[in-house]
Amino acid sequence: MRIADITLNAEERIPTTNKELDTVLGGGIVKGAVVLLGGEPGIGKSTLLLQVALKIRQKVLYVSGEESQSQIKMRAERLEELHSNCLILTETNTQKIFKTIEEIQPEILVIDSIQTLHTNAIEASPGSISQIRETSAELIKFAKETATPVLLIGHINKEGHIAGPKILEHMVDVVLQFEGDRNHTYRILRSQKNRFGSTAELGIYEMLSNGLREVANPSELLISKKDADLSGTAIASTLEGIRPLMIEIQALVSTAVYGTPQRTTTGYNLKRLHMILAVLEKRAGFKLGAKDVFLNVTGGIHVDDPAIDLAVVAAILSSNQDLPINPNVCFAAEVGLAGEIRPVSKIDQRIIEAEKLGYKTMVTSKYNKISSRETNIKILLVTKIEEAFATLFAE
Ligand code: TYD
Ligand code: MG
Repeated sequence: MRIADITLNAEERIPTTNKELDTVLGGGIVKGAVVLLGGEPGIGKSTLLLQVALKIRQKVLYVSGEESQSQIKMRAERLEELHSNCLILTETNTQKIFKTIEEIQPEILVIDSIQTLHTNAIEASPGSISQIRETSAELIKFAKETATPVLLIGHINKEGHIAGPKILEHMVDVVLQFEGDRNHTYRILRSQKNRFGSTAELGIYEMLSNGLREVANPSELLISKKDADLSGTAIASTLEGIRPLMIEIQALVSTAVYGTPQRTTTGYNLKRLHMILAVLEKRAGFKLGAKDVFLNVTGGIHVDDPAIDLAVVAAILSSNQDLPINPNVCFAAEVGLAGEIRPVSKIDQRIIEAEKLGYKTMVTSKYNKISSRETNIKILLVTKIEEAFATLFAE
């Protein structure tokens, strides 16, 4: 057919009642879509989908091969959202699951998890590559034939990929990843693939004793409210997905006790830290070669946005000099190999977010294209690392 002659009919979407999940999905679950939710054990995959199953108005069949009915009931009670429309089936055989589906005609199907299922069609143990491929093919066929959305939970392996055949990710319509540090309460829901929306969206949750709470204003939570001025922390403006986020960077620089200095990071790329240290050494004359450097992004989240570079530099120098940075100052700039302060994407959005949260000064690159408007925040434009720090510790 000529592409010009194809008529567009908007996909029918079901709102999940979970705003963050809806955003990541691109506005609710599309009918007949198969969504794969991956994540480390204990991160909250079952909690998230059970929470949705309990709250959504549609009739949901929640199939679990992982937990008993009473375990699920206990979890549901913790979540305080008991709803009669959610049916629980503890079964791992797909033929039996489809038989139940025929009887009760659910409007949404949840499978926890794909690795526990097995089909009579082939002889292989559950969790093996061929079983995962086969059972998910059956579920995808069911979703497409009946226009029922299917939400699959998938385990991930040591490398962080969804366990099973890579083809699984090609077969489904949406791949979501649930991330976070289990020792922290924040969870981030990212979309790795979405046939019905953008993958730039991102959802943020907090794991509480009564389930996952949607976090509408994450910046306020990711910044630890400190009483005294401590050295070694700097606030970075980052953009996760399409959402501006203020995060706190903590650095500890100390003289190395043993021969080789240690460099460790949480939430920041270690190679990038090495690069930043080399730049500081070579271009700005800071002698950090014999120092241990520990770097931490608070909240246990991992940030890839290069715009946090300048805050990393600031935190390191602040710790090294033992001079605190004014808590009203935030940073948004990438640092180049020549020690130049480079512009970042969507600077206007970052400025608005920083202003909204009450920051008084933002240090950023002179090469940014900032749209001129009235701001309550002072924008400090710099071109080189040295310039940035001449002003930094002055107050
Ligand atoms: P779970 O959803 O079982 O993780 P997954 O399915 O990804 O393996 O989450 C388990 C963890 O979450 C568990 O350690 C307990 C914690 N949790 C809470 O903190 N609050 C809650 O309300 C629930 C249900 C779980
Ligand atoms: Mg689980």
